[in-house]
Amino acid sequence: MSYTFIKHASELLTVKGHSEHPATKDAMNNLHIIEDGAVLIKDDQIVDVGSTEKLERQYADLLDHASVIDAKNKVVAPGLVDPHTHLVFAGSRENEYNLRLQGAKYMDIMAKGGGIHATTRSTRLASAEQLYAESRPRLDSFLKHGVTTVEAKSGYGMEWEVERRQMEVAHQLNADHPIDIVSTFMGAHVIPEEDKAHPDRFVDELIEEMIPRTAELGLAEFNDVFCERGVYTPEQSLRILEAGKKHGLVPKIHADEIEPYGGAEIAAEVDAVSADHLLKVSDRGLSMMAHKGVVGVLLPGTAFFLMTEAANGRKMIDAGVPVALSTDRNPGSSPSTSMPFMINLASLTMGMTPAEAIVGATINAAHAIKRADRIGSIEAGKKADLVIWDIPNHMQFTYLYGVNHTETVIKNGRVVVDKGVLV
Ligand code: NIG
Ligand code: FE
Repeated sequence: MSYTFIKHASELLTVKGHSEHPATKDAMNNLHIIEDGAVLIKDDQIVDVGSTEKLERQYADLLDHASVIDAKNKVVAPGLVDPHTHLVFAGSRENEYNLRLQGAKYMDIMAKGGGIHATTRSTRLASAEQLYAESRPRLDSFLKHGVTTVEAKSGYGMEWEVERRQMEVAHQLNADHPIDIVSTFMGAHVIPEEDKAHPDRFVDELIEEMIPRTAELGLAEFNDVFCERGVYTPEQSLRILEAGKKHGLVPKIHADEIEPYGGAEIAAEVDAVSADHLLKVSDRGLSMMAHKGVVGVLLPGTAFFLMTEAANGRKMIDAGVPVALSTDRNPGSSPSTSMPFMINLASLTMGMTPAEAIVGATINAAHAIKRADRIGSIEAGKKADLVIWDIPNHMQFTYLYGVNHTETVIKNGRVVVDKGVLV
């Protein structure tokens, strides 16, 4: 049994009270801050949260045996949660980035056999060992940015053995690395080049073979589809998500990124846990999401990197949609592992306040992967996943933008990043 006591945080951002339902509207602006705050951790769990004075009094006997972390002039926050990544793949695509800088368009590059197809070619050629070796450093980088849980999608195989390999590597990384990984099947990432002439045949294969096998082997919890013109139609998306549901996979959807295409409406219809991207979402889609409590996962880094206008986070929050944030870490449209930068971008490009952005990167992100009962806030009984930022108040997190303020990361009650360095 070991105790850790974090004390004297100038701001302890508890983000409490939203474990059952995600935060919406005004509630997204309340971080439930305790000044001169303290947290008592026993092994991998949070035992108590309060003012330093109160906890020191209450646990006087116990604190002699605790390892103590002084967070004076620092902010203590929940470990960040990234609910949307394409973590496991081989290769990189800086060549396409260069083309885009000269005016080429993301979807045109894909239509010509690049983009997701290019990464699919390199991923199909990679062994499990190679995929592991390329993906693990990405997790190290996430951790150094204060991220303690990530979702990871398959989708660069689009043939069973490779999809399976990607998901198995994600499971192995989950076992080996401090970060917790939540797995999503995304065989419906694009229509593979070899099936272009008969897309529905591939949709049938997803539904009849890959989804049942994924579920049977327990390789994923979620099922995702890229619903966009030239990729999966709304009808195909609906079929794929319904099929996943039948096998116990919870729906997620890449929705309305390039044009309004009915993705948000489908998310509400199938009771998806989240609809992601939403740059071009319709008003009807938004109100349907708000009504069903579908989390809107916004990926400001993707808009930034593709040099397009960001999603309207402000409008979504005002419409009652619970908003979360993510990096979308992938080799094409967002190669960043910096959740702190996404928090910056949320306030600088999507009209969100720093508090809303932090809620979006913690408790609402946890809801987007159905983990809000265990992570996303600093409350007694939750997993001891916390970060210490080297700034005196949370406003400075976005004011001093583009900087990684993460000093210490505590994962499952253990210090895994100390003074910004992995331990
Ligand atoms: O979420 N939009 C579709 N899929 C990814 C991009 C994947 C890639 O370009 O490799 C995304 O942005
Ligand atoms: Fe994505």
